[in-house]
Amino acid sequence: MAKPFNDSERDAVYRAIYERRDMRHFVRDPVDPAVLQRLLDAAHHAPSVGFMQPWRIMRITEAGLRTALHATVESERIATADALGKRREEFMKLKVEGMLECAEVLVMALMDGRERHIFGRRTLPEMDLASVACAIQNLWLAARAEGLGMGWVSLFDVDTVRELLHMPNGARPVAILCLGHVDEFYSEPMLETERWASRMPLAECVFENRWPADGDAAK
Ligand SMILES: Cc1cc2nc3c(=O)[nH]c(=O)nc-3n(C[C@H](O)[C@H](O)[C@H](O)COP(=O)(O)O)c2cc1C
Repeated sequence: MAKPFNDSERDAVYRAIYERRDMRHFVRDPVDPAVLQRLLDAAHHAPSVGFMQPWRIMRITEAGLRTALHATVESERIATADALGKRREEFMKLKVEGMLECAEVLVMALMDGRERHIFGRRTLPEMDLASVACAIQNLWLAARAEGLGMGWVSLFDVDTVRELLHMPNGARPVAILCLGHVDEFYSEPMLETERWASRMPLAECVFENRWPADGDAAK
């Protein structure tokens, strides 16, 4: 039987959850290979639909490849700004990635051949994506506990990244992850500090039995 968590172990779990931040500012010091290995193993211990383990983690070590990935993120950043209309200039001022400064760039991808996995996915095929997100969150929390920052970048052209990384048909990149040492962790979400968005009250996200008639009030 697994032992119960003692108070300080339980507090540490909550601390990692509350103090995890999406980081976009990094310092260049390398990540200890043993720490990186622990983080990858933490990702690999995430829950997954039907124990499918659909995550494929690609470590980018070629400088040219990192630059090429950054270029697709930059062009998507501009396209996103253009699509935002009124908030274009406000968005352009935000720092949305730290790909050129971070010690490690990882690309988290969905495996190919996912159609063979039906358990838990017959009506909800996107549960493979949900499982990859669980792996990313494990990595994120473990990185915070190791004193490392991580940033999730989802501004990219999927086919460009697929081609750059020679992914087979059916495989699909989900996230570009920037990982590395930071000077300090933001004390709140950077998008909150920059007044882009703020955390909703918990009560607006928790319903009992019925979706309330005014349940879309947050929109
Ligand atoms: C699925 C997903 C995609 C994200 N993509 C980006 C991104 O492309 N660029 C970025 O700056 N932040 C990205 N983020 C980070 C969010 O902006 C961040 O989680 C949110 O603002 C709350 O801040 P916190 O993570 O520090 O609590 C992403 C987060 C998630 C979960």
